[in-house]
Amino acid sequence: YRIDWDSEAAQKGGFSTFMDKEIHDQPTAVADTLRGRIDEHGKLKLDEGLIADSVLNSIDKIVVIACGTAAYAGLVARYAIEHWTRIPVEVELAHEFRYRDPVVNVRTLVVALSQSGETMDTIMALRHAQQQGAPVIAIVNAQGSTIARESDAVLYTRAGPEIAVASTKAFLAQITAAYLLGIYLAELRGNKFPDEIRTLLAQLDEMPGKIQRVLDSAEPVRELARSLVDEGSVLFLGRHVGYPVALEGALKLKEIAYIHAEGFAAGELKHGPIALIDEGQPVFIILPSPRGRESLHSKVISNVQEVRARGARTFVIAEEGDTEAAEHAEQVFYVPASPVLMSPLLTVVPLQIFAHELASAKGLDVDQPRNLAKSVTVE
Ligand code: G6P
Repeated sequence: YRIDWDSEAAQKGGFSTFMDKEIHDQPTAVADTLRGRIDEHGKLKLDEGLIADSVLNSIDKIVVIACGTAAYAGLVARYAIEHWTRIPVEVELAHEFRYRDPVVNVRTLVVALSQSGETMDTIMALRHAQQQGAPVIAIVNAQGSTIARESDAVLYTRAGPEIAVASTKAFLAQITAAYLLGIYLAELRGNKFPDEIRTLLAQLDEMPGKIQRVLDSAEPVRELARSLVDEGSVLFLGRHVGYPVALEGALKLKEIAYIHAEGFAAGELKHGPIALIDEGQPVFIILPSPRGRESLHSKVISNVQEVRARGARTFVIAEEGDTEAAEHAEQVFYVPASPVLMSPLLTVVPLQIFAHELASAKGLDVDQPRNLAKSVTVE
């Protein structure tokens, strides 16, 4: 037993849990997923299989099928891919997709997004799409997995093995790989000039260093987590790309800390969720960059004010240099400035760390939360 313990400790590389290690592996996971992926001709290098450029040129829709955290990576990617390519993107939970009689055909590019490549719901959705004649590209982490084998082409996320049930580094790697696919489609279909493509790739290249800076400055969020161990509910608000980040922040907390958590689109607040706010309710808000669309920043600032006026404790994730954030929030956690579409790779990290620290402080088994499996191989 002693030997097993030692080897497990060694695998954790000095971290208390696999999840903590995997959170800290994220700069590497993103860098590895990017490395060498766009060749000297500006072409995306797939790992296996091929979808002909003539097919990619004729698609009129992209459908991402996924479950759990992977589905939230798909929601993030949707903002970027639609913006860059002008191809409509749908993101659907794999188990809902299949039973809906979805409109999918040879002109639909289906993207099967999965860490394990073994999620049965996603496999069944993939098969259904193939039966309708759709080309399928897999974005998966596990080499040789079922989804990789059954898809027409594979773009691997190179996050390395993810052991903790709650997904972290695979999430960032999934966003990165989906962005590469989007950039490639934009280039192929002439939506972007070569210098614009180069700029996007250069911006992506800067993200691992920025993620590292978030990791290096995370102590305040850990402190906050330790002070909230007795909370019964935490809410997360985000807008635009901050919305799926809010969903993911809430999912992490449910999965490992067993705390009721909900992510909401900030614009939806007034249509219902604001009724939940009462004295002392903790609310995380992901604030859009003030350098982005100005109206979005001020709209979410208004949301911070609205929930605070009703007694909420407001914890805001904001961009460095956003001087307005601190005026309205109880506490602000800053992440480095980045282009808006790249920001989820940063803003989600404090939320992962928050959930990890809170679950640890509660003495829970962070890596093996109750009732959950790393890979769900039944429908
Ligand atoms: C399970 C895991 C989640 C994961 C989901 C999808 O529910 O507990 O962490 O996000 O499956 O897994 P996949 O391997 O397809 O990404």
